Amino acid sequence: MSKIIAANWKMHKTRSEAEQTAKEIAAAIRSASVPQDRTLMVFPAFLSLPVVAQALKECPKTFVGAQNFYPKDQGAFTGEVSLPMIKDAGASWVLIGHSERRHILGESLSLICEKTRYALEHDFGVMLCIGETLVEREEGKLKAILSEQLKTALAPLADLPKATLATSLMIAYEPVWAIGTGKVAGDSDVLEAHALVKDLLRFPNIDLSFVPVLYGGSVKPGNAKQLLSLANVDGLLIGGASLEAENFLQISRA
Ligand code: PGA
Repeated sequence: MSKIIAANWKMHKTRSEAEQTAKEIAAAIRSASVPQDRTLMVFPAFLSLPVVAQALKECPKTFVGAQNFYPKDQGAFTGEVSLPMIKDAGASWVLIGHSERRHILGESLSLICEKTRYALEHDFGVMLCIGETLVEREEGKLKAILSEQLKTALAPLADLPKATLATSLMIAYEPVWAIGTGKVAGDSDVLEAHALVKDLLRFPNIDLSFVPVLYGGSVKPGNAKQLLSLANVDGLLIGGASLEAENFLQISRA
């Protein structure tokens, strides 16, 4: 299967900085220095979506997504951004459930569930992020937390067309204690969690175990190859190390 290499630029880069990085990525794709069996994704800040989408427009197997949205077409939702606006900016994917949105912005399981269905019903691809905190892991709650995060967002989707789910859904497993900390999860942690996620995706009413599962959390050029070699790791979601085009491209070649 083609491995997915996704960049989450979080709240970094002005529009011109984002455009510059996207152009560097596009140039590398054009010069065939990214392996053809890689799918690349870039999630810039909202204001940079148009320039990043434009820069990556002609690049095969490359997708642009938004880091957030509000699940209504329009209306009195001050400060929010809708999917039609994001589509108009040239993006076709969204991140949902990132740990920073769950833990810093207080996004609830029910909002994440609503956003997931809404995005899929509006022809957007969804990268659903899940992961346990250090305390949850130390309390032996890994399975319970991942199960709750997956079940609330995905089990209600059984009525959606199989083709939609097959092409428009990805999971990113990101242990919260490994995000931005430099503490990458060990091979055994990643193997255990990814096998668990695949298993938990077999809901009684729908089997979603075919959905790609990416690993995220302190991925760097130096550890990407090893992570990608592990069973059930279908790709990588990269924060800090995706900000420099050269690092991101190195990871894409891992
Ligand atoms: P990091 O972030 O690579 O900087 O740890 C990953 C993420 O939050 O998606």
